[in-house]
Amino acid sequence: MICDSVASRRKRKRALPDVVAGLGAEPHSNSLRIQKWLSMSGVASRRKAEEMIVEGRVCINGIKVTELGAKANPQNDLVELDGKIVEIVQEKIYIMLHKPEGVVTTVTDPFGRATVMDLVPNQMRLYPVGRLDFDTSGLLLMTNDGEWAQKLTHPKYEVFKTYIAMVKGIPATESLQKLRQGIVIDGKKTAPAKIKLLKNEKKSAKSKMIITIHEGRNHQVRKMCEAIGHKVITLKRIDVGGLELGALPKSKWRHLTAKEVKNLVK
Ligand code: URA
Repeated sequence: MICDSVASRRKRKRALPDVVAGLGAEPHSNSLRIQKWLSMSGVASRRKAEEMIVEGRVCINGIKVTELGAKANPQNDLVELDGKIVEIVQEKIYIMLHKPEGVVTTVTDPFGRATVMDLVPNQMRLYPVGRLDFDTSGLLLMTNDGEWAQKLTHPKYEVFKTYIAMVKGIPATESLQKLRQGIVIDGKKTAPAKIKLLKNEKKSAKSKMIITIHEGRNHQVRKMCEAIGHKVITLKRIDVGGLELGALPKSKWRHLTAKEVKNLVK
């Protein structure tokens, strides 16, 4: 059954997500049962909300739902009660996680590998801001605030990220200069980077470098190092936009302070 408010008509033009009877809702997805949505928005208690659903007073993206298992996602879906939009009031959460190696930076993994979601409480309904490779450790921001996440990842904001890379061999001064000036990877030159050679261990023939970039291209730091002939052995992100990982132990997370949240998106 179709609901026919103006908002519904507008919304119906968009794809229908996992709304019908909770089908397709991932364990960690941000979808909520409609009775929870209505109760979180202060419209009714959960019990009363269930009655409203069964009575056919609720629409998701313009489609009437009468099943109590139906779910909708606050980021994509539009819920109406008696033709009026019901906005969900969601507390904004911002955390930093010290991502360990061997964990994927996605909400779910088709291969059943551990994800960063396994390291934060389920009920927080967060998602990662940008990505770190499976083998990269370090600072990963997570939030339920889409706008904030968008600002941190959009190229136009040029948020600087700093990595410690342990590479094979000892890069020559000219190679480091190439990285600083920008080097072609995947057919496109990288933006200038800050590069500091911390120390090289002549015996084991490996070097530690501090690399700061603002782009977020796929495997960028690994590819940059490979482009000068030095394979990355380990990679750890220690700073995003001036926010430092500090002494947070691996696999642990902490909330950001209000000041940290604000400073990141100036
Ligand atoms: N660059 C990489 O190569 N890998 C990461 O995980 C992050 C930046």
